[in-house]
Amino acid sequence: MARQNTWSRRWRPLFFAGTLAIVLTVDGADAALISSVSQELRGRPLPSFQSQTLDGQPFSSQSLFGKPIIVNFFASWCPVCSMELKDLQTLQPELRQRGVSVIEVLVDPVETPDTVDEARQQLARNPLPFPVVMMVPALRDVFGYEGFPATYFVKADGTFSTTLFGYQPVDQLRETALEIAGEGAAATTAPPSSPVPSGGVGRHPPWEKRPLLALIPAPWAQWHPLLVHFPIALLVLEAVFVCALLVRPNERVAQFSTWLLGAAVVSLVPTILTGIRDAGADLGPDSPFWNGLHDRLAHLFRLESSVSLHVLFGLAVTLIAGGRLAWRAWAGDRILRGGQRIAFTLVTLLGLWVLFGGGQVGGGISHR
Ligand code: HEM
Repeated sequence: MARQNTWSRRWRPLFFAGTLAIVLTVDGADAALISSVSQELRGRPLPSFQSQTLDGQPFSSQSLFGKPIIVNFFASWCPVCSMELKDLQTLQPELRQRGVSVIEVLVDPVETPDTVDEARQQLARNPLPFPVVMMVPALRDVFGYEGFPATYFVKADGTFSTTLFGYQPVDQLRETALEIAGEGAAATTAPPSSPVPSGGVGRHPPWEKRPLLALIPAPWAQWHPLLVHFPIALLVLEAVFVCALLVRPNERVAQFSTWLLGAAVVSLVPTILTGIRDAGADLGPDSPFWNGLHDRLAHLFRLESSVSLHVLFGLAVTLIAGGRLAWRAWAGDRILRGGQRIAFTLVTLLGLWVLFGGGQVGGGISHR
């Protein structure tokens, strides 16, 4: 009894503080929008609005009327927004030729005011070939703004067409732009396109017509979603055995669970490497792995981005699993007894919780 009280005094505050920290962090994170195509605004007139350009000049929507326009909302630090900006720049010559103008709306002033100065410097170093307008609260109503990235297509008659939320592949942007330019997508000869993420809109997997093709491993395209199943399955199974040990300590079960944990840690290595590679897959012509690594290091702590949040959770899972393996090696049989046994089980369950959280965010990136 006395022992139990000691445990409560030591671990309970830690446990609650940890839980609270995680809940606060997760709650505060406003992830980038998950991709979807919306027709909700279609046919509605674009209300007039005023704002300022990046260099402080007044901007009025009156200057937009009479021509088809694309209004793209982006945050300066959002990786998927940067990808979309690159795609819009790729499309720029084609859009200009068809009379479609692009306006960029920088959302930093309302989303993360502390990054506005940095955004100005960044855009001064790498100017965009489009006018950049500052987001003001009034634009929330004008566009039914939900978040970023978001791309609104407005026809020459001043009414909304399709709206694209979240990152959208370049082909989807082109197709929707052609709609407002008054032409069908089929009528165009597509210029060499930038890479489209596998599973993107309009892509047909090779096994659609020949199901057995699914048995042949694809080249290095999205191996991460495949490999994640190994650490997930191993860690879940190990957690079941750790919980069983709590009820009935047993040497052999303990040994087996250690093997499972070791295998999970090993399988996390290719999982992370392929994750980094997949994160870089759409970021340019260089090696996807180095693109991904560079992008991830540059944006690691942008909690507003789903990819960054996912990576932090993934690293936390790895850290917890690796730490537990080291703990087991150090503690030996003591792990089966007393306070250590309870503490180890709690940390195991915490790792599982973080794993599920990370998987949830990862699924959001995959199924955009
Ligand atoms: C730390 C480096 C990591 C990076 C850069 C990363 C990156 C990604 C990316 C880009 C996706 C979207 C799918 C794709 O394009 O592959 C994804 C999905 C996912 N990731 Fe990660 N990931 C990392 C670590 C992890 C870890 C450690 C786990 C769990 C063991 C994990 C579990 C998942 C899951 C479950 C999905 C969703 C798969 C699906 O729904 O199809 N990731 N990750």
